[in-house]
Amino acid sequence: MPATVVIGAQWGDEGKGKVVDLLAERSDVVARYQGGNNAGHTIVTGDEVYKLHLIPSGILYPGTTCVIGNGTVIDPGVLRAEIDGLDERGVDISGLRISANAHLIMPYHITLDGTSEMTLGQFSIGTTGRGIGPCYEDKAARVGIRVQDLFDESILVRKLEVALEFKNAIMTRIYDLEPMDAGAIAAEILAHAERLRPFVVDTGLLIADALEGDGHVLFEGAQGTMLDIDHGTYPFVTSSNPIAGAACTGLGVGPTRIDSVLGVSKAYTTRVGEGPFPTELGGDEGRQMQERGHEFGTTTGRQRRCGWIDLVALRYAARLSGMTQLALTKLDVLSGFERLRLCVGYRRRSGKVIDEFPLHQSTFHAAQPVYEDLPGWDEDIAGVTTLDELPAAARAYVDRIHQSVGVPITLIGTGQGRHEVIDQIEI
Ligand code: GDP
Ligand code: IMO
Ligand code: MG
Repeated sequence: MPATVVIGAQWGDEGKGKVVDLLAERSDVVARYQGGNNAGHTIVTGDEVYKLHLIPSGILYPGTTCVIGNGTVIDPGVLRAEIDGLDERGVDISGLRISANAHLIMPYHITLDGTSEMTLGQFSIGTTGRGIGPCYEDKAARVGIRVQDLFDESILVRKLEVALEFKNAIMTRIYDLEPMDAGAIAAEILAHAERLRPFVVDTGLLIADALEGDGHVLFEGAQGTMLDIDHGTYPFVTSSNPIAGAACTGLGVGPTRIDSVLGVSKAYTTRVGEGPFPTELGGDEGRQMQERGHEFGTTTGRQRRCGWIDLVALRYAARLSGMTQLALTKLDVLSGFERLRLCVGYRRRSGKVIDEFPLHQSTFHAAQPVYEDLPGWDEDIAGVTTLDELPAAARAYVDRIHQSVGVPITLIGTGQGRHEVIDQIEI
């Protein structure tokens, strides 16, 4: 069975949810490999709008198996609410599977996410406040709580006591907060255990079996390349690896099993939270993008920062994930701009222009974009489904991106709806 990884090629919110939803129709398994409910994926089908945070974006197709892999972090209350919410709306959730090895976000992770942001003050990251970083910290420190611990109360309480010994010292002595109680936390999360139990399986084995079969497997990344903890704009990143390679560790799949990598990028750039963003636009053009693209975060409702497409960062993303195809979303949002700018290089403080992503953080922070300009178009392209219907200027814009990134553009987004897309995807 062929396997494709779908990744965010920018700073998240590229439209991965919509693309995965579209491809789920042609897939048997869709599996999330990292991140948690910091993600927010909006899918629009007819009049219905779904906002998914943890459950893979393939869930809307009955019969698709949707896996939440070992590399993810799960807030049990949030997952339960998401399952119940979909169930109440009549979505068939019987295909959901959850890894027993995924780590659980505990109440103290959420508290510590908030206190750490407060302590950082002007250096804060602008996290989603969902406890993601502290949960991954505990995973690495080997004091994490995992899904399987939900099914053994005495082990759960013992592990919570061990974790809380240190956490309570931090919360009471450094932050002057009330200590948390292992028994109370256990009771709170055990209330979800029976609801989740039927979905918990050996997901690594499930995927291995699927790969032996005839259909197609999709690995769904959350966040985006520039938020990758190793390769992104550290420290303004998330605490996991959204790049394609992480699908292997986050699901228990060997690298030889991956056939293709589909990067998803907007036709411009957005970012939520703090951190450098060379092509960011203030003023009217940024406002126009923000308004036309409805650029508000799916998870936190924060306004997304907007700017021109950054081809240096996009080429870097293509390299890091071995991208074989590119989906360019939200091209419709760019109608009505007189001129479109594409960032083809960065000017360093010294004046030197570079066209590779810089190694040093301070170089990136100081980078001034070097632009190439192309004419815009006025025609409304909302809902267009064939390349022939695009104005010549829009085709030229897409061709320039293809030429620069060196990866074929096999999907172009022309609206929010499931079928508002020029789809030439090869999976
Ligand atoms: P994700 O986190 O990568 O799944 O992206 P989000 O769902 O957070 O944000 C992308 C937003 O853009 C959502 O509201 C989508 O419905 C919307 N969207 C996706 N593709 C297109 C497109 O081609 N055109 C327009 N206008 N909106 C789109
Ligand atoms: P999707 O999957 C956009 C950003 C946060 C913050 C940084 C760290 O919808 O693309 P965290 O809570 O992860 O510790 O926050 O990462 N961030 C996202 N930005 N889309 C996301 O997910 C994001 N998930 C985290 O805004 O800057
Ligand atoms: Mg999102």
